[in-house]
Amino acid sequence: MKNFSAVILAAGAGIRMKSSLPKVMHKLSGKPLIKWVVDSVSILKPDNIIVVLGCGSEIVEKYLSGVSGNIKFVYQKEQLGTAHAVMQTEKVLKDYVGGVLVISGDVPLIKSSTLASLIKSNKKTASAVTVLSAKVENSFGYGRIVKNNGFLEKIVEEKDASVAEKQIKEINSGIYCFDKNLWKTLSKVKPNNAKKEYYITDTVAILRGFGKKISLIAVKDENEVKGINNRAELAQAELILKDKKIKELLDTGISVIDANNAHISYDARIGRGTVIYPGVFIDTGVSIGKSCTVKGASYIANSKIGDDSIILYSYIDGAIIDKKVKIGPFSHIRPGSVLGNNVKIGNFSETKKAVISKNSKVNHLSYIGDAHVGEDVNIGAGTITCNYDGINKHRTIIGSKSFVGSNVNFVAPVKIGQGALIAAGSTVTRDVPSGKLVIARAKQEIKRRIKL
Ligand code: UD1
Ligand code: MG
Repeated sequence: MKNFSAVILAAGAGIRMKSSLPKVMHKLSGKPLIKWVVDSVSILKPDNIIVVLGCGSEIVEKYLSGVSGNIKFVYQKEQLGTAHAVMQTEKVLKDYVGGVLVISGDVPLIKSSTLASLIKSNKKTASAVTVLSAKVENSFGYGRIVKNNGFLEKIVEEKDASVAEKQIKEINSGIYCFDKNLWKTLSKVKPNNAKKEYYITDTVAILRGFGKKISLIAVKDENEVKGINNRAELAQAELILKDKKIKELLDTGISVIDANNAHISYDARIGRGTVIYPGVFIDTGVSIGKSCTVKGASYIANSKIGDDSIILYSYIDGAIIDKKVKIGPFSHIRPGSVLGNNVKIGNFSETKKAVISKNSKVNHLSYIGDAHVGEDVNIGAGTITCNYDGINKHRTIIGSKSFVGSNVNFVAPVKIGQGALIAAGSTVTRDVPSGKLVIARAKQEIKRRIKL
């Protein structure tokens, strides 16, 4: 969508967050508020995206420069209000002839399609401004849409509203599309209000005074325009996102046993027939296949899990897990773990940067790190790869069809051939050829007992 530029306001301190972090850097489902807005806007491919920075500008600019390439930054040294913030972008947009979308950096749930409708509508109706509004149950804290004979007259902020105006349930979303009259209008805004700030909302009445056309469109879903000003609103937005996600999943054949007691990130991909039990936390970057079971207090992030797998009370981050894998209860699958088809990782076992190939088992109390385990390997209880010498990490390689008895230490670097048998209690310090039996433990001695 061409012919518009976006101005995102993100200079405010966000005092109501009670935090040293700039408000727009607070995360909603793992993603900073500002990035949600940037993402929604970017989909529409505007001619310019300008972010107005102020409080904590270094933090926001560093973050945004790292994740999006084409953002222009302007700075509002003193936070004198939303109109003053937009004024700072005049030097970039003065000669720009398209629409100017102004949006706060604290409305993360806004949809691109809603923004597109707003921009199109402003152009189609040849309005100087179109305000996006919403009818809400609780309008407290928002600017109210004041109408006269059904037409938008002005916007009044909570602190400046009369008792009657406070009753109004239609609110200003903080999202507007302006035409080129914006700049001359901004110069007319005065800080005549309770906060002594320059309010962008005052442009509405000013434009009307100029005899310009001002328009209003209301969004259907009030959740889209929820502004995040404090942690309660942030928590509420988390719930909105989660509930929406769970509804979508339920509709596509996924069971969530207790929707109030499971967290599923907005970006999770889950296959049909999978059952999510109470207590599960699915963080960002997760895909789970069909007909899986995820049960107990399991945490999963940045991982891919294949069909028919079972995860019980486990912590999984940064793993690629094939089909029919069983993990847990109480396993820790760390980054770089690659688990093949039908692998079993059991209670109190940990894997890290480890390939465990198909049909292999690490059933009890083991640590397998910096390792490659072949197919059909049985790792006995309490087996440890001693991968760290205090300075460097070293690899352990265990060939297919090997059998590792209980309580074995592999002092890496070490390589075990195929079909080897490692006796229980061995501390293996040297490579073992294929098909051999190794016993690396002190011999048992039986001595006469000295009676006391
Ligand atoms: C604003 C609107 C209100 C609307 C609500 C919707 C005004 C005066 N009020 O109120 O009508 O209902 O959003 O969520 O615009 N900012 C700057 N520089 C400043 C001040 C603010 O960049 O000097 C930025 C903030 O970082 C924020 C955005 O502008 O991203 C909105 O400011 P905020 O303080 O959240 O305004 P609200 O009180 O929510
Ligand atoms: Mg706000």
